[in-house]
This record gives sequence, structure tokens and C-alpha cells, in this order.
Amino acid sequence: MAAQSARRMKSEKGPEEINALRVAAGIVSGVHEMLRERVVPGVTTAELDNLAEEFIRDHGATPAFKGYVMGDGVENPYPSTLCISVNDVVVHGFPSKDELQEGDIVAIDVGVIKERYHGDCAFTYAVGEITQEKQRLLDATVEALNLGIEQAVVGNWIYDIARGIQKHVEQSGFSVVRELVGHGIGQSLHEDPAIPNFVPNPFARHRFPNLKLSEGMVICIEPMVNAGTFKVSTDEDGWTVRTVDGLPSAHFEHMVVVREGEAEILTTHIPHPTFV
Ligand code: MF3
Ligand code: CO
Repeated sequence: MAAQSARRMKSEKGPEEINALRVAAGIVSGVHEMLRERVVPGVTTAELDNLAEEFIRDHGATPAFKGYVMGDGVENPYPSTLCISVNDVVVHGFPSKDELQEGDIVAIDVGVIKERYHGDCAFTYAVGEITQEKQRLLDATVEALNLGIEQAVVGNWIYDIARGIQKHVEQSGFSVVRELVGHGIGQSLHEDPAIPNFVPNPFARHRFPNLKLSEGMVICIEPMVNAGTFKVSTDEDGWTVRTVDGLPSAHFEHMVVVREGEAEILTTHIPHPTFV
């Protein structure tokens, strides 16, 4: 049916589906709440991963990233519950026996499946004292996310979100990663539409169609912001994405429902004063 597939394409959800997504979003938010005080010098990222998995299973959910296969046809399932991306790692860093160190910035991304519906949320933490420049990077990324969310209202367009994010990031002297983008979410982790954090150039527009936002679309807005160049590369492991210049990168992600007037953020309880 044409109407149904149009709805699918836009990731519009009815009230019951939104409630199911709200429950999943509550669990990923809870993981962050639990982890925030455990992101300290000396903890290993594998320890954080184990804590998160236990929390998720205790809440009757399963980790969404563990075993996830990217849609590029290459079988290389993601091995862990969390993506933990330290300093110059942009996204998809593997938890490991490495200890976090004072001064690191650590992006933690978590996904769950609860009764078939997905939750997905990322936050970048400071480990102890960090440099002013790293703090500025975190602040600019959160602010950019919030500006993107402000645009996620009925009648606006996907590129309004993208523009809001990109403008703030670039005015702050940082750059927006191009290779990875936000997405719709529902019974799949990644649904249409793609939500780029930049306004695509004319040649890339067909990959990221500029759809009109409508009531009930549930989307993940997730700017990845680099201190230096936006260029990234992927490690031999097929997952770990890092900046090519070795400068740090930050990543924050919220699940939001497009509404009339003001977007509804599903991933609440996020430990940052700018998230209000
Ligand atoms: N939040 C990220 C995303 O939406 C995390 C994906 S990790 C993966 O793409 F393992 F699931 F790919
Ligand atoms: Co996501």
C-alpha cells in the first residue's frame, strides 16, 4: 500500500509504537545514568561494557549492537554491548582491557531492544579534568545537538536539522563528520530517513533526501564533531572509526519524536546541564 510505505519511509509512528520506543529509550537513558559516575580514571572499558549488559538484561532487554551486522554485505558482527570511543576515536570503538585515563574524553553509545523496539543514545564523558579545548568540543557538540532538536518540528525539513547542527559546529571552529549520520528508529535500529548532520552537497542529496518532517516521526539525531578535519578512517577491525589527524572527536545522540511546536526527547535522564 502506497500510504503505508510512505509512512514507513518517514518513520512515522503511532502512539502505541511511540510508547514502546519510550520504554526502550528509558532503558538506554538508565544505562547512561548508571555509567556516568563509573567513567573514571583506571576503569577498563570492558568493565563498563559488562555493567551495561547486566543492566540491560536486568531490565528485560537485550543489547542491540552486539551481533549487529552493517548493511554493507560484509559479515563482521559488532562484538559488544557498548561502543566506547576514546579521544580520536569517533564512533564504534570496541570495549577492551585498556584503562581510561585522566584527561580522556569517552563517547559511550548504547542500544537496546525491548519487546521488539529499539533504544539508542550516546553521550561523551570527561574523565577527570580535561583540557579547555576538549571541554569546548563537548559543549559545542551538545549545543549543536540541541539546536538540531529544536528544528525537529512538524513542517520543517530534514535539512533544517542538518543546517542547525552544522552551522553551530563550524561557527565554533570544529567540523562535522560526513561518513555517518542519524536515522529513524523503530523495530529496526536504523530506519529511514537518514538524518545527516550537514547539508549535503548537490551530488550527495539523493543519498540523504530532504523530507518534510511530520508528527510522530521518531528519529535519532547524533552529531559527531571533530576538533580538526572532518575526515575519518576505519581501522582493520572494520568498525573503529577515527579522525585522520588524531585530534579528538565527540558524539551525542538523542531519540526524539517530531511534534508540532516542540520535539519530544525520549532519551531523558541525560547527565548534562545543557540537556533540559
Ligand atoms: N548509534 C550508532 C548508530 O546509530 C551505533 C551503532 S553501533 C552498531 O549507528 F554496532 F550497531 F552498528
Ligand atoms: Co544511532
